[in-house]
Amino acid sequence: MNDLRQGGVVILDYGSQYTQLIARRIREQGVYAEVLPHAAPLERLLRHQPAGFILSGGPSSVYEAAAPQLNPALLAQGRPILGICYGMQALTHALGGVVAPARAREYGRASLTHRRRSPLLDDLPETLTVWMSHGDRIEQPPPGFVPLAESDNSPLAAMGDLARHLYGVQFHPEVQHTPQGVALLRNFIFRICGCADHWQPAAFIEQSVAAIRAQVGPERVLLALSGGVDSAVAGALIHRAIGDRLTSIFVNTGLLRLGEAEQVLHVFREQQGMDVRYADASETFLEALRGVTEPEAKRKLIGRLFIDVFKAQAAQVSGMRFLAQGTIYPDVIESAAASSASHTIKSHHNVGGLPAEIGFELLEPLRDLFKDEVRRVGAALGLPEDILWRQPFPGPGLAIRCLGEVTFPRLETLRQADAIFVGALQAAGLLRGATAQSFAVLLPVKSVGVMGDNRTYEEVVVLRAVATDDFMTADWAKLPYDLLDTVSRRIVNEVPGVNRVTYDITGKPPGTIEWE
Ligand code: XMP
Repeated sequence: MNDLRQGGVVILDYGSQYTQLIARRIREQGVYAEVLPHAAPLERLLRHQPAGFILSGGPSSVYEAAAPQLNPALLAQGRPILGICYGMQALTHALGGVVAPARAREYGRASLTHRRRSPLLDDLPETLTVWMSHGDRIEQPPPGFVPLAESDNSPLAAMGDLARHLYGVQFHPEVQHTPQGVALLRNFIFRICGCADHWQPAAFIEQSVAAIRAQVGPERVLLALSGGVDSAVAGALIHRAIGDRLTSIFVNTGLLRLGEAEQVLHVFREQQGMDVRYADASETFLEALRGVTEPEAKRKLIGRLFIDVFKAQAAQVSGMRFLAQGTIYPDVIESAAASSASHTIKSHHNVGGLPAEIGFELLEPLRDLFKDEVRRVGAALGLPEDILWRQPFPGPGLAIRCLGEVTFPRLETLRQADAIFVGALQAAGLLRGATAQSFAVLLPVKSVGVMGDNRTYEEVVVLRAVATDDFMTADWAKLPYDLLDTVSRRIVNEVPGVNRVTYDITGKPPGTIEWE
């Protein structure tokens, strides 16, 4: 079989916040798209023989001294190019057109009118609503280009050199606010680039199984199973490829949610028939956490201890050459960017992310997939929905939701409160979509209450539910009052040690999603 990544599209990243979205939109059409830095060497850009290129938007102005430009060697390839926003300006600049600051900046919705027929736009409605976000605009198109569509502020809202298959759009077809955007991208990939829609879960599984077998040969593979979506799908995929030469280790840190360890063992041992070693290290973790209250200290301690526990477990299974990780595509794209700019708010020790020095060769079968693709592959491998649609759970687990000292009784209290809240959301259909992360937090604060005729003096539970796509910013979820009311009553009535329940109405920023 040909490599499924061949004949797709390469997206050159000029720094837009929407770059990954372009790739996701294209992959949703069954066409492979990869994101590469705009300055990547030509041979890297051509590695998977793309049928065309997309130049993303970005924050720069092409006429600034250090502005990122278009590699002229790309133009010499003779393959179709679509420039989006800054990408269109970079294309214009490279080909001898003129870009200048627009008299009025154009942000938000704009109405687009066709001026000329082209394979990019001519099957779309005569007037289109599009999403604009730009300060510069094209004053004069490069030689050979003709205007295709205009908006009030942009006479060249879309342009093209139809003979050379070069196109530019000033708006963002990848965002939801451009309702016909996907149709435009489909025109580019299918009509203009001639891509085939063979990037599908079943084909991916078939190809990955072959690739895993080729990489692993007769050797054995070890996997740290966390119960999260990525390690679950990686495990199921590798198991499909090499069967019982895969051994998984599942560590119970004692910081998991109610019933979580049992569920993970049931799904992977009974349903998937995998060899899963279970290490109950709860006591070790709780012992180490005694007296520790500072959030970063908790994280560091748990991250280090996890590695020690995992190493000790791994030493008991002999003959392992590979360590499998559930690294996914956004991790790959972001790891390059993350090392530079961002200021550490919290050190996110991901328990699944074991360091390279642990002494294995790495096997990362999901490196090319976005999260939604991971889920589709998982579904095609027969994993149940409640594993695939799990909300993200932080590596340090309940330790960073149990504020103050982490003790077994306090964790039990938190587990029960959390299960009541999450169970109610699930029953109301609010766990998928309406909320991206929903959980309970236990505060080390006592408040006075009254139950029956008695004064109570007990701890406080906070309910936290947020809506977000990217976890970088988040809105608190506007949950129905009735649901909050029921959950509050149940927690105070059923969970010993809690007499007050509050709902967190802080967005991110200024809050973070977790409380520690
Ligand atoms: P914050 O609290 O920073 O969280 O708004 C953003 C996302 O990251 C998760 N998170 C973590 N994940 N180790 C992890 O693996 C950590 O230490 C950690 N801290 C926060 C959080 O649950 C949310 O999804």
